[in-house]
Amino acid sequence: MKIKFLGHSAFLVEGSKTLLFDPFLTDNPVAAAKPYDLRPDFILVSHGHSDHFGDALDIAKAADATIISVNELALYAMRRGANAHPMHIGGRQRFAEDLTVKLTTALHGNALIEDGLSQYLGMPCGFLVEMDGLTLYFAGDTALTYDMKAVIGDLNKIDVAMIPIGDNYTMGPEDAVKAVEWLNPRIVIPMHYNTFPLLAQDGGAFAARIETEQPGKKVFPLKPGETLEL
Ligand code: NI
Ligand code: MN
Repeated sequence: MKIKFLGHSAFLVEGSKTLLFDPFLTDNPVAAAKPYDLRPDFILVSHGHSDHFGDALDIAKAADATIISVNELALYAMRRGANAHPMHIGGRQRFAEDLTVKLTTALHGNALIEDGLSQYLGMPCGFLVEMDGLTLYFAGDTALTYDMKAVIGDLNKIDVAMIPIGDNYTMGPEDAVKAVEWLNPRIVIPMHYNTFPLLAQDGGAFAARIETEQPGKKVFPLKPGETLEL
């Protein structure tokens, strides 16, 4: 499996299926891909904020991909002409023989600003993905929550966790260290930082702290465009 960081919270995961997470590319100053170069099977959208929903509709239509998200966001995508599969938090679905997706809680907001109006799109979410024998957890935008221990970490053997560390809108590095302890993944990829000055964080320092305090875990602070292969 290849996990390519496209900048901010956008990832392209290539395995038996190709998954695109939170494809904020066009207005993303650090984007490492162009929307129409991507051909995902599924686009997993954690919430409707523009730095996550991004190019989801355009890519879904161009690539004939299916958007996976919470019910309200998925129905909105369908109204706008994209294929979508509505789910909700706690629900799991099998999308292929070797691909299941479960929606997890995220403590955040979920609206899309359209024509100056705020369109409510349900709860924000995270994703637990099992593909090709590996378990990925993509946290979305969230605060540190005890679900990361009791519901997500304790009940799943997570191989790779993608978690925000940018602070201000989500948990910062301090809380993310605790999140990693609770989630107990083998590998951590920090996200949602250094896209804008407001989200400036030191990914290397975060990695060093985890690897010192929580031996056995590996942290990869990928730069936009870098790929982790496992
Ligand atoms: Ni957000
Ligand atoms: Mn965000």
